[in-house]
Amino acid sequence: MPQGRYILALDQGTTSSRAMVYHATDESFEVVGRGQHEFDQHFPDDGWVEHDPEDIWQTTLDACKDAIEDADIDASDLAGIGITNQRETTVIWERDSGKPIYPAIVWQDRRTAAYCRQLKDNQHEAMVQEHTGLLLDPYFSGTKIHWILEHVDGARKRAEAGELCFGTIDSFLLWRLTDGKVHATDATNASRTLLMNLETRAWDNELLALFDIPSALLPEIRDNADHFGDVACSTLLSTSKSNASVPVLAMIGDQQGALFGQACFSEGQMKSTYGTGCFALVNTGDRPRVSENRLLSTMAYQLEGKPTYALEGSIFMAGAIVQWLRDKLGMINEAAETESLSEGVPWQQSEMLIPAFTGLGAPYWDPEARAALFGMTRDTGRSQIAAAALRSVTLQTRDLLKAMDDDGQPVDELRVDGGMTENNWFMQALADMTGHPVLRANTTETTVRGAALLAGLQAGVFSGLKQIEALCRADDRWTPDLDQETRDKVYARWLAAVEKVR
Ligand code: G3P
Repeated sequence: MPQGRYILALDQGTTSSRAMVYHATDESFEVVGRGQHEFDQHFPDDGWVEHDPEDIWQTTLDACKDAIEDADIDASDLAGIGITNQRETTVIWERDSGKPIYPAIVWQDRRTAAYCRQLKDNQHEAMVQEHTGLLLDPYFSGTKIHWILEHVDGARKRAEAGELCFGTIDSFLLWRLTDGKVHATDATNASRTLLMNLETRAWDNELLALFDIPSALLPEIRDNADHFGDVACSTLLSTSKSNASVPVLAMIGDQQGALFGQACFSEGQMKSTYGTGCFALVNTGDRPRVSENRLLSTMAYQLEGKPTYALEGSIFMAGAIVQWLRDKLGMINEAAETESLSEGVPWQQSEMLIPAFTGLGAPYWDPEARAALFGMTRDTGRSQIAAAALRSVTLQTRDLLKAMDDDGQPVDELRVDGGMTENNWFMQALADMTGHPVLRANTTETTVRGAALLAGLQAGVFSGLKQIEALCRADDRWTPDLDQETRDKVYARWLAAVEKVR
């Protein structure tokens, strides 16, 4: 492959749509073009979060154009496209026109909390967990689909008649990119809907009946690397003169994308992404492991029909806590300031922040809990609050590792990525509190790299996972430097403080 080949990877996230052009040669896999466009968040009611699907589509196209132009190539130079996306976010659109019938209901949206409670009260959670590996929480797509069918005039009838399509963002983008020709999703995104059976990786009739969802709405479930469909060059770059098309060769949910992009291909390998929230996934091999400790059991990836599974701990607030310090308290101007502020604050500090601003995710799953700052003294100032904020993320991570351990899937080291990992003080604190080495990836772009690597695999750019492993190195490593007694004492105080906010 003397001249190398180009892959376009799209990362449609919660706050922005990004695109990267990668250039692959025998020795390297580098980003040569980038594009990114943010879009508006809508909060029409308490706990509601929506996106305009047209914004998602338009910003994706704009990001594609920018990335291709930045790489100084034409769309026809691309060997393939990989898509990764915010998971669970739900769109329903008309099969004929491609027009959404309602805004996208975002994964963070809590409007179906009462419906979830009702299903739980009626003892459905055990069956749901057994079939899907998930829990009854508004986070997942199933209850969001139910809500749209109940609240949009005529939606249920039209869904039953096959006039509507449901998709997570991967499916919606694929539908638009292929000009309405392909209605498909991949096994990782499907595993977040509450509708896919984790063993068979097919839509589950018992679940469709429980949530009252007609099967005519649903996309086809495929591997993560596949020939999903073809995209006209002029769609990707309006100025392209080529009549050719570019194949979509990979789709994967963003957290699974990061797991793949961190090359966690063996059982017990774990990645933890610190963005707005924190999502920790550990590879559990070729069998789903149903959690007894309130973690999620989910797909890691599926290649050539062979599934690999993961246990996942999802925490809703990580980097968002630092944003709160900046935007709501005005305590800092930039996130990076928390690093120097926290310097020198001992682990024995009395302040303890419980960041339940939007309830608590794994392993507590308590949507009603609210945040609190305990243990303030006359000495408490910006430094102590910043350190307590960063430490709360390390303590939440320890909760997840403990649950993984209790589920019989211990981890040896943490492969980390995401914006917060640029903070070296936080990296050391993470190693100290978890008692495990922390390895920071050689790129901050592991999510989008995962989608690009999968597309490259399908395009034949890479020979297999061994070659991919060699490309995904960790450049920095932190080892624990805190005595066990202090570590355990601080953690015991954390557990006691969490109980006070519930
Ligand atoms: O499950 C939600 C997750 O996929 C969202 O990720 O990076 O868009 O906040 P992100």
